[in-house]
Amino acid sequence: MKILVATEKPFAAEAVGGIKNIFAEAGFEVVLLEKYTDKAELLAAVVDVDGLIIRSDKVTAEVLDAAKQLKIVVRAGAGYDNVDLAAAKAKGVVVMNTPGQNSNAVAELALAMMIYMSRNCFTPGTGSELLGKTVGIHAYGNVGRLVGLKAKALGMNVVAYDPFITDAAVFEKDGVEKVDSVEELYAKSNFLSLHIPATEQTKKSIGYKLLTSMPKGATLVNTARKEVIDEQGLRQALEERADLKYITDIAPDMKDELAEAFGKRFFATPKKMGAETAEANINAGLAAARQIVDYIINGNTRFQVNK
Ligand code: 3PG
Repeated sequence: MKILVATEKPFAAEAVGGIKNIFAEAGFEVVLLEKYTDKAELLAAVVDVDGLIIRSDKVTAEVLDAAKQLKIVVRAGAGYDNVDLAAAKAKGVVVMNTPGQNSNAVAELALAMMIYMSRNCFTPGTGSELLGKTVGIHAYGNVGRLVGLKAKALGMNVVAYDPFITDAAVFEKDGVEKVDSVEELYAKSNFLSLHIPATEQTKKSIGYKLLTSMPKGATLVNTARKEVIDEQGLRQALEERADLKYITDIAPDMKDELAEAFGKRFFATPKKMGAETAEANINAGLAAARQIVDYIINGNTRFQVNK
């Protein structure tokens, strides 16, 4: 069996070592394609591989067509909007993610982003504290829940909304207030931490109306996906409300324009760094390798997302 680890944004060396060891024990061959700049490099590298580990790398129908022997793709991470699930299914290729494995890194960054914006992007001037403020968690999955628990430890009030979790006990056991609509969530939140995936339903779903319903001085924190933001609506909200702020780990298409127009009320990291910790790389990378071995040897499809 030949496995390709294709990471435009490479894993930490320790994670790569661990991945190699797992495949060596299984008797599988591993090849690495890191920091590639051209899709053609990926198309050439997938030609004879049985398994593929990726991060945010795009696995399109074209890539799947080129990968004649491919049996499984594991997205080492949570979001799998970068993989054409239907095309994979049509070709009998199993797609998995590694849920929860990089969540702590992303949750820590979300909290860091709240502090960064509260302290004037670490420039001189009077800032404000997180203590006593309300953070809204939009989608209470692995990352959202960790942001909520960590925010509670900082003395914040935590409210959450998740359209797929109706059982109030899920929130109650964490001491988190469940709200019943997205409108209520934004209206209550001094900080809103986004954890929704990019789907046909969520794309451009966060815009002017929700943002302008937030309390005075509110900050939207995006460690999820840029596609969920309606950027024109965001721009309009920031223009009309000089108190609103937006910080994101996924550069918007309008990044330069927003940076120019809104100064310290807008910040985007240069490259998505939520999961850029050695720990997250090791957790997600090794889990991906184990899932590939377990699928190829035992047929385990527990984490399959294109059933
Ligand atoms: C995820 O969906 O797991 C995160 O967005 C991390 O993405 P990355 O592996 O490209 O850093």
